[in-house]
Amino acid sequence: MKPSLETTLAGVKLRNPTILAAGVLGTTGKSLKRVAKEGAGAVTTKSLGIRPKEGHSNPTIMEMEGGLINAMGLPNPGVDNFLDELVIAKEGGAPVIASIFGGTVEEFAEVAKKIWAGKPDMVEVNISCPNVKEGMSFGSSPELAAEATDAVKKAVKCPVIVKLTPNTDKLLLVAKAVEDSGADVISAINSIGPGMVIDAETGKPFLSNQVGGLSGPMIKPVALRCVYDISSHVEIPVIGIGGIETGLDAAEMLMAGASAVGVGTAVYSRGIEVFSKICEELEYFMAAKSYKSTKDLVGLTRR
Ligand code: DHB
Repeated sequence: MKPSLETTLAGVKLRNPTILAAGVLGTTGKSLKRVAKEGAGAVTTKSLGIRPKEGHSNPTIMEMEGGLINAMGLPNPGVDNFLDELVIAKEGGAPVIASIFGGTVEEFAEVAKKIWAGKPDMVEVNISCPNVKEGMSFGSSPELAAEATDAVKKAVKCPVIVKLTPNTDKLLLVAKAVEDSGADVISAINSIGPGMVIDAETGKPFLSNQVGGLSGPMIKPVALRCVYDISSHVEIPVIGIGGIETGLDAAEMLMAGASAVGVGTAVYSRGIEVFSKICEELEYFMAAKSYKSTKDLVGLTRR
């Protein structure tokens, strides 16, 4: 019998454990629908804020050995303008996760309340963007992270995911704090940084924002360690994100303790087919090793 790739996150069923991570192809309903049709188990929107935001000027992203560095500056159409996009995104047939950010606890609550009108399947709270000052302090403060979680939980009726940053020595305190505040799922990790790339020609930083977050295969070992630690420390499921490009990457992330995997940078390097490819490779690996379901893999490293 074929192994089952199904997984469940806080009662939300995914046909397979691959999730389009926030920030990639998530700015329109049409692109989200396309990714869902291509085989992603779920799709996440670009992080939405209270009002439209242009983001930083170019250059905002650079390809480097082992991944990307980026500082987009959270460009997004604003939560009010995204409700119609959610309707289109849902036509893709996969659960839609709305990613939101805020500069204050009140703003998190307000954005959450507004996005709930569009009935996303889940809401992801981005407390971890490395390029926005306020975002960063939420993700490295257990108290603020707990307050943001609580505010969003009160504003929506769907499961709430909180996305953590690896750029803190309080990772496990933050994880426990958001779990205690009612988070249903944790996703980890957001990009690592801030980092800087300097153009030797001019002596100036390459990115207009000077610094940005690292993503892709170069951060996979950090992502695996964070997911292993977080899933050992909390009861709620974890979405593992960071450098997932192949079925084996996904298997390793599940073994580290994730119940699903986020795929972002690999959409640039491997194309939109990456979701079906990861699933095919994962299924092949599981069949070869006689694993019957993703559950057999989740947390295997610790057992
Ligand atoms: C941006 C946001 C993120 O959460 C991240 O990890 C990297 C970049 C941004 O829009 O700048």
